[in-house]
Amino acid sequence: MAHEMILVETRGRVGLITLNRPKALNALCDQLMEELGQALRAFDADPAIGCIVLTGSEKAFAAGADIKEMKDRTYPAVYFDDFIGKRWETVLTVQKPVIAAVAGFALGGGCELAMMCDMIIAAENAKFGQPEINLGIMPGAGGTQRLTRAVGKSKAMDMILTGRMMDAAEAERSNLACRVVPVADLVTEAVKMGEKIASLSGPSVAMAKEAVNAAYEMTLKEGVRFERRLFLSLFSTEDQKEGMAAFAEKRPAQFRHR
Ligand code: CAA
Repeated sequence: MAHEMILVETRGRVGLITLNRPKALNALCDQLMEELGQALRAFDADPAIGCIVLTGSEKAFAAGADIKEMKDRTYPAVYFDDFIGKRWETVLTVQKPVIAAVAGFALGGGCELAMMCDMIIAAENAKFGQPEINLGIMPGAGGTQRLTRAVGKSKAMDMILTGRMMDAAEAERSNLACRVVPVADLVTEAVKMGEKIASLSGPSVAMAKEAVNAAYEMTLKEGVRFERRLFLSLFSTEDQKEGMAAFAEKRPAQFRHR
C-alpha cells in the first residue's frame, strides 16, 4: 500500500519506519496511525525482517495525538470509535522487537507510542513529556501506566501533573531511554542495534522480548515460571542446537532465524 504519512524502507534485516508528517510535527492523526499499523504488521509477517526501528524527524518523533483532529469529537464518537485503542495498540501485538529512535519532541501520544515500543534510543535533543494536562485532558494511550513503571511514581506525577518535559540525559538517567546518541547518529545507531538483534535466532529473540514484557503483567513467581517454559521450549529449535554447537566448535553460529 502507498503511504502518505510514513516512509517505509528496509536496511538489511531491519525494517525502518519513519513518521513523516513534518508540517504537524508528526502529530498522530487517524490516517498516520492506520498507515503505521499496516507497516508494522507487514514487517512482522516478513521473514526477511528481524527487527523494526520506528523514528521521526530531527525536530519531532511525534508531538502527540492530533489536537486539531480530535478537538471537536464528542464522547459517543470517541467511545464507539474506540479512539486510541484499536489504531494505537498494533505495536503491542508485534512479535519482533521494535526500537523507538527518538529525536526532538516525543510528547503526549508521541511519548506513549515510544513507550509502547520495546526500547527507546534517544538523540541528545530528545524531549519527552506528557503535556495533556495543559489541554484539559490527561494521557490516554498508556502514559500514566508506562511512564510510572519506567521512571517511578514521583517523577511520573511531576511530568503528568505539571506537563513539564524531560531532556535526553534525564530520560536515560530515569530509565526511560536505554541510550543517548548524537542526533546525526540516531538512525544509524538504532539500525546497528536492530541489525545485531536481527542476526540472532528469531524464536529466541521473540520469546525473550515476550518474557521481558510479561514482567509488567505478572508476579515474580509467575514471570519466572513463564520465562522457564519459554527457555525450555527453545531446546526444540534448530537454532539452539546450532548456537551451542558453534560455541563448542569455536565458529560463528549460522542461525536460520525462524
Ligand atoms: N496536534 C496537531 N497539530 C500539532 C500538534 C498536535 N499534537 N503539535 C504540533 N502541531 C502543529 C502546530 O499546530 C503547527 O501547525 P501550524 O503551523 O499549522 O500552526 C505545527 O505543528 C508546528 O507546531 P508549532 O508551531 O507549535 O511548533 P513549536 O516548535 O513552536 O512548538 C511544540 C512545538 C512544543 C511541540 C508544540 O507544537 C506543542 O506544544 N504541541 C502540542 C503538544 C501536545 O500537547 N501533545 C499532546 C497531545 S494530546 C495527546 O497526545 C493525547 C494522548 O495521550 C493520546
